[in-house]
Amino acid sequence: MNSLIRPSYAGSIAVIERSIFQPGSLIVASTPRRIWRTWHFQQSPASRGAKTVSKKKVKELQQGAIQADPLPELEDDRTSAYPQYPPLLQGVRANMAKYPNCLLMTRVGNFYEFYFEHAEECARLLNIKLASKSSPKHPSVPMAGFPFWQLDRNLKILVQDLNRYVAISEELRVTGNSPVKARAGMPQFDRKVTRVISPGTLIDEKFLDPYSNNFLLSICIEPPSDASATPQDIGLAWIDLSTGDFFTQTAPMASLGTALARVGPREIVMDEQIPESVKGELQSLVGNHQDLITYHQTASAFDSMSKWSIGTGEQISGHEEAQFSSLEKLAGHQLIDYLNTRLPGLQLQLQPPRKRNLNQYLAIDRHSLRGLEVLETSRDGLGKGSLFHAVRRTVTPGGSRLLRDRLTAPSGSIPEIDERLDLVTLFFADADLRESVIQLLRRTHDVQRLVQKFTLNKGDADDLISLARAIQETASIHGTLREAGESADDEYASLLQRLLAKFSLDGPSLLAHQIFRCIDEEGLAQLHHQEETESAEVAASAAEVVRAASPDDMSILPKNARVKARLAENRFSDPDMHDAWIMRRTASETIAKLHEDLDVLKEERSTLEQTLQQELNTNSLTLKWTPGLGYTVHVKSLAALNRGKEVVKDRFVPSTRNARSFYLTEWTGLGRKLDHARTYIRTEETRIFGELRQQVIQNIVALRRNAVVIDELDIAAAFASLASEEGWTRPILTSTTNHNIVGGRHPTVKLGLEEQGRSFVSNDLNLNEHKQLWLVTGPNMAGKSTFLRQNALITILAQAGSYVPAQYAEIGLVDQIFSRVGAADDLFRDQSTFMVEMLETATILKQATARSFVIMDEVGRGTTPQDGMAIAYGALHHLHNINKCRTLFATHFHTLADLTHDWTRLARYCTDITEGPSGSFTFQHKLRPGVNRQSHALKVARLAGIPNAALDAADSVLCRLHFEKNDRDTLTEPTSALLGAAA
Ligand SMILES: Nc1ncnc2c1ncn2[C@@H]1O[C@H](COP(=O)(O)OP(=O)(O)O)[C@@H](O)[C@H]1O
Ligand SMILES: [Mg+2]
Repeated sequence: MNSLIRPSYAGSIAVIERSIFQPGSLIVASTPRRIWRTWHFQQSPASRGAKTVSKKKVKELQQGAIQADPLPELEDDRTSAYPQYPPLLQGVRANMAKYPNCLLMTRVGNFYEFYFEHAEECARLLNIKLASKSSPKHPSVPMAGFPFWQLDRNLKILVQDLNRYVAISEELRVTGNSPVKARAGMPQFDRKVTRVISPGTLIDEKFLDPYSNNFLLSICIEPPSDASATPQDIGLAWIDLSTGDFFTQTAPMASLGTALARVGPREIVMDEQIPESVKGELQSLVGNHQDLITYHQTASAFDSMSKWSIGTGEQISGHEEAQFSSLEKLAGHQLIDYLNTRLPGLQLQLQPPRKRNLNQYLAIDRHSLRGLEVLETSRDGLGKGSLFHAVRRTVTPGGSRLLRDRLTAPSGSIPEIDERLDLVTLFFADADLRESVIQLLRRTHDVQRLVQKFTLNKGDADDLISLARAIQETASIHGTLREAGESADDEYASLLQRLLAKFSLDGPSLLAHQIFRCIDEEGLAQLHHQEETESAEVAASAAEVVRAASPDDMSILPKNARVKARLAENRFSDPDMHDAWIMRRTASETIAKLHEDLDVLKEERSTLEQTLQQELNTNSLTLKWTPGLGYTVHVKSLAALNRGKEVVKDRFVPSTRNARSFYLTEWTGLGRKLDHARTYIRTEETRIFGELRQQVIQNIVALRRNAVVIDELDIAAAFASLASEEGWTRPILTSTTNHNIVGGRHPTVKLGLEEQGRSFVSNDLNLNEHKQLWLVTGPNMAGKSTFLRQNALITILAQAGSYVPAQYAEIGLVDQIFSRVGAADDLFRDQSTFMVEMLETATILKQATARSFVIMDEVGRGTTPQDGMAIAYGALHHLHNINKCRTLFATHFHTLADLTHDWTRLARYCTDITEGPSGSFTFQHKLRPGVNRQSHALKVARLAGIPNAALDAADSVLCRLHFEKNDRDTLTEPTSALLGAAA
């Protein structure tokens, strides 16, 4: 007998008979009292980009339960430790002790439940009802739970939004050799934590952001000889489980913050024993996000990278291993060890690690990333208004992830940048080619994440179809590019040749062919429709049980569960309803044969039905299957029943008012045969599915390679679209230390102004070894900061391989960009605005090289004017004489212009205000050579609406100060004397 268990809540159980045991499913457990319905595991469709929903389809229910083969044996540590509780709670207590930092979710029937203090906490966090579990012999214990289809939603809240760790304890069948023996009357299943979900270990959760990577980062240091010493270097390793991306890097300790900003990890793993100095530094870097850090003690010592079980059969050779530093290896080892403890039943599947060298990239430190608003704006931390947001035209998730990477780590190699720019130019010049490639790109799927799912033993028939479609589109893109290559001139023809050579299509095309040959898309669609109904059914039975057990708890059920319940009622009337097959009959010889058998049985069924209809002389007779009743013959007409007493033989079953059902041996036997035939087909489908999955894995290297090319094409086409929409130009990268930008614009401010119907005034910049530093003065609000940032952003865009907002741009390759802009208070670190400013300035002066590009905006404004000016002078002096880097320096300290009048490599530029009649004025956003000594601050204050009385007072004091200063200046020159000494 196969059954559908109604959800048990607060310990109550109800069983519904069910005729079909679906194969290829997530099997739970089977007992005389409880026989669990199984859920399709591999046949679920994808509901891409699904938002948080409270209703779940059956297909989505496998969440959290990863196929765990083989699971480590259970430690039977429960009975002894917590004798006061019933067995279930003893297990819960033991698991809570084993996973101390996690919230423990325990699967009980169709619910996930929290107990003890976790119940109290989660009831609050998830806004679910707090109940209590009590039995006569045991103390009452707080509990809170939710139906299993809400798992995704609740994981999103706990893990994604609140950064909590959740241990999921699933129900598992007790095997013969398990130490937990099934005793008479005891359940034959046990619960075990199969996975710990933390922000960095998400795999294919629906709430994963498709447009950004989900990195887990590990940090390691060389064990220091002296515990108090600060280590010089750190080893980093980071992994995105959802794509299998795996990177390593060695970086100076001082650039830890920059590394963090660039990688943007969702979780950071490090050893608890790490020296206090590093721990403190990291803690202050993550600021309010302390919960990002996980301390993990690696169980085994590092041996060799070839021992890393990173899957896909690729071993790391000794030769490859040599390129990684020992710190990187340690970090990688720690990361893999951590993942193994988090996903105990899972065989890790990662791409081979890739080493990132610091000098391969234009380094943008974390303050600059924030100050330049590369990824998010500093005002509200939102994406809109950021560079990333303004330039993003990519159409695939993978392209978008790569764009983030390109902008935070632009290239440091001219040939690489030129190669990227060539591709952009190709798409820029050929709009038709660009449009057709973009159209095809829109239809590809996220192959990186799809493939990764299959390697992790997840993925379903819909994923296979998506993959096959993506392969087809990849082939079409290849074809389109090949055609373009035939008519292109020599330069582009060879570029296209190189690009085409990166594709590897043979294996994947065969795979796509196989997938389409086997999978029946119509059947799949039908199956989804059916699953909709099934989920309604589950919701309905949950509603019933909850209503019966504790009517107060109805609030935990989705509202539409009750409505849907009615819809589900009719589904059992037709047994053929279950015949939604995901594989075509032609998929294998076996399946063809099995379908023939089923057809014969169906024929018998309809013959039986017809015969009975004739005997009873009624058309209203049907052969049915219903939960609870099993196989019945259903007749609407009472008169017909009376006519067929011979057939019916009083084996009536209770039924509805105006109809009658009875049992018939022939139908029961035939019904069982039909069930078996269906079961065989499902089993064969599962086998074929497994074969296809295997073929995906065999093609993994080719699939990933193609995905990389697709991402590159997406970015190139996106940059080209952007350039043609906005009238951008191709930058020329040189090995000089010059910047020559004509008609430069700010990529985001320009957009903002245009939205308001205003136009942007472009500005030139010319830096070279003769004029290395520009000192920019001018009134408030006239565009100094904008000018500084726009040049930094143009540099970043150019080295990322994009066109730039300018008429002409010649850029000498930059190694690091620094920007000291705006006032960012860091209250968590208990540092005043001024302290933050000084720290950032110190970093710049210590780290900028002759290849760097520095922008400094109003340094020294956070203290008294004299001190501030002195510090600004000191910084300027250092940049000019020691760092000798390209620098833009905006200031209100006009005296600086006087103090630097004989510096040869410094140029002075300013912005202006033009005053009209009757006090009106306009900002001149155009830079001109010279110094502007007027801040016009009072004008801006008036514009901002400062009351007239306050303005009058300000005006009078300003006049007096001017007067006094002029007086004094004729007597002495104190400031320059002071600074002369300092210089
Ligand atoms: N080149 C420009 N063309 C047009 N408007 C500009 C330009 N530069 C700046 N602005 C406008 O002026 C505002 C203030 O610019 P900002 O650079 O902050 O000035 P400052 O730093 O000199 O006080 C900007 O928000 C923008 O609206
Ligand atoms: Mg400014």
